[in-house]
Amino acid sequence: MNQWHPTSWQAKPAKQQANYPSQEALDATLEQLSLLPPLVTSWEIEALKGQLAAAARGEAFLLQGGDCAENFGDCNAQMITNKLKILLQMSLLLIHGLNKPVIRVGRIAGQYAKPRSADTETIDGVTLPSYRGDLINGPEFTPEARIPDPVRLLRGYGRAAMTLNFIRALSDCGFADLHHPENWDLDFVGHSPLADEYHQVVAELSHSLKFMETLGSGRDSDLSRVQFFTSHEGLHLHYEQSLTRPVPNRPGYYNLTTHLPWIGFRTAATTDAHIEYFSGIRNPVGVKVGPGMSAQWIGELTERLNPDNEEGKLLFIHRFGADKIGDGLPGLIEAVKRTGRQVLWVSDPMHGNTESTRSGYKTRHFDNILAELEQAIDIHRSAGSILGGVHFELTGDDVTECIGGARGLDEAGLKRAYKTQVDPRLNYEQALEMALAITRKLGRT
Ligand code: PEP
Ligand code: CO
Repeated sequence: MNQWHPTSWQAKPAKQQANYPSQEALDATLEQLSLLPPLVTSWEIEALKGQLAAAARGEAFLLQGGDCAENFGDCNAQMITNKLKILLQMSLLLIHGLNKPVIRVGRIAGQYAKPRSADTETIDGVTLPSYRGDLINGPEFTPEARIPDPVRLLRGYGRAAMTLNFIRALSDCGFADLHHPENWDLDFVGHSPLADEYHQVVAELSHSLKFMETLGSGRDSDLSRVQFFTSHEGLHLHYEQSLTRPVPNRPGYYNLTTHLPWIGFRTAATTDAHIEYFSGIRNPVGVKVGPGMSAQWIGELTERLNPDNEEGKLLFIHRFGADKIGDGLPGLIEAVKRTGRQVLWVSDPMHGNTESTRSGYKTRHFDNILAELEQAIDIHRSAGSILGGVHFELTGDDVTECIGGARGLDEAGLKRAYKTQVDPRLNYEQALEMALAITRKLGRT
């Protein structure tokens, strides 16, 4: 077998890659990227791995969520804080309801590249390359916008750095202080039917906090900041490669664009370039698994992606659809058990439940999302395995993209604030409701 290297994936078939008009321009950009500082550190990555190991043992719970695709235009204070706020609020509900630490991982600061089902898009007889995310080309349906432009890689790196910088500043003090969860209230929280339930949990937590501090030695400064990790689909292998580096005092290579990169459902074939690339990095890695994946396939993935059988190293994020999970998931759990290796199981109840309305909106029904999640919990319970986390597409904004939820958003209501360029996200209220539903089903243990 050939020696692994950050570029060894280039000898394998790579799906879903951009077709750049100039190799020279791409190479020049990659050279620039390779000289820029990392976005995350190996210390953070190893800390996350340790926490994910706890989630795999059932001692912690992973909350991973954010946009389907971030776009460059949304790199602003309000969008970033709103996303942080909803993830912090959901995590409070989960901590309270599950009685365990919650690991917060955003689909943020790098979720700029998207796999597409077709390479081209045709409108009124005009065919252009598909939009592949802001890291590659523009969404506008013009030949100029759709040509992949390597300069976007630098802009993506810059946006990721700015986003991370703001997240780090917010997580470190003041804003993220558990003593002041009112900082996380979104403007419309007061009008939500869920507001009372949320505020009751916050009041109970504040009470417990005061109680602990009365017993202990005053204010615990650790509770004045939160840890927040980043993740994105590691789709654009040239981009990932350019920030994959050795670090001082630790063996191996780290992908330093993000803490937790994952492999999408469309690029998980064991012969693919993506598996080659991901098999050599030290980060924890996720793989989306779903309908059509055989026992042998997932067994091979387990061995390739967790060769040293490290705890917290490999996450299988299953995304079947409410009508398919019952048939598909038990076999995969058994196949992984047979390998004897450690994995963390995570439910993505979004991607198998996408549908289109008659008027052409891509949507998801809240009830189907919840039904898949509840089945996932039951299936893991009866298989004697652990569902250690959830993966959502959500936003802190008041969008109308998914149907249903406490406010009963219907098909006609979608057009009010349908903003996503790719997949439909849970809005703020639907996301909170989902967190409450998880705690009801998984209970306090
Ligand atoms: C996604 O997470 O946005 C995505 C494309 O998912 P999947 O690879 O599971 O289809
Ligand atoms: Co998506």
